[in-house]
Amino acid sequence: MSVNRKLQSTEEESLRPQEIFNEQWKIYQKLLNENFMKHRDIYNILHNFLVNYFPQPFNMLDFGCGDASFTAQALLNTNIATYKGIDLSTQALEIAKKNMEIIPCNLTFIQGDFSQLDSELINLHIQQDKFDVILISFALHHFQLEQKEDFIGQLKHLLKSGGVFILIDVFRREEEDRETFLTRYRDNLAKYCSTLTAQDYSMIENHISSCDFPETQQTLYEISQKQGFNRFECLYRDDNFDASRLLCIYK
Ligand SMILES: C[S@@+](CC[C@H](N)C(=O)[O-])C[C@H]1O[C@@H](n2cnc3c(N)ncnc32)[C@H](O)[C@@H]1O
Repeated sequence: MSVNRKLQSTEEESLRPQEIFNEQWKIYQKLLNENFMKHRDIYNILHNFLVNYFPQPFNMLDFGCGDASFTAQALLNTNIATYKGIDLSTQALEIAKKNMEIIPCNLTFIQGDFSQLDSELINLHIQQDKFDVILISFALHHFQLEQKEDFIGQLKHLLKSGGVFILIDVFRREEEDRETFLTRYRDNLAKYCSTLTAQDYSMIENHISSCDFPETQQTLYEISQKQGFNRFECLYRDDNFDASRLLCIYK
């Protein structure tokens, strides 16, 4: 391979993650603009919850924060004292930093993999802290059931007593299997997301078929209870598509 060719392919390789991110980010923005996953409703409820539950300063850890655009809206005019956002994507974190500038608190953004909670990086940033709120929004459903249970078990040690784990995610109906859920989800996407192109739809389809493993609410309650959490509450359930929910799991 000539030097020029080598340089060109290195350049292409380094452009690729940015391009992939841009492509996926654009599609995700379309879903958010159409409120398909109900972010507007959910984060409004989250804002009210944070205002009422924390009359005193609180700190938050946000796993899979993405660009934190809705989190920033939910945190406006709350008593947030410190916020830590973790994400795999450096590109998303760069946008998150800008979106969170409107929140006057101590902000930290960490590029890391939250499936490796015992890794050195994660250890360095979060294991010595205790949090009042741990948020994970539309990211836990990528884990298999056993991983979800291990992860929730570890969260318990990161929360202060009286702290709350807030899970925003897609859920299967009770007695619904994964295939039935995915078919229902695909049908709703095709029916209600008018701005998606055929290519967008096929990218989402590939993503959900290979990466989405939603549980039922009951399963989440059971594994949380097994891991020592003692109170649960569903603050939002999407009556329309019956997929997105907001659960509070209290320590
Ligand atoms: C669907 S987006 C959700 C973003 C935001 N929380 C929201 O509700 O709009 C999922 C985010 O989780 C991040 N993510 C997925 N798995 C992750 C992991 N194991 N560690 C860190 N971030 C992860 C992705 O990079 C992405 O930004």
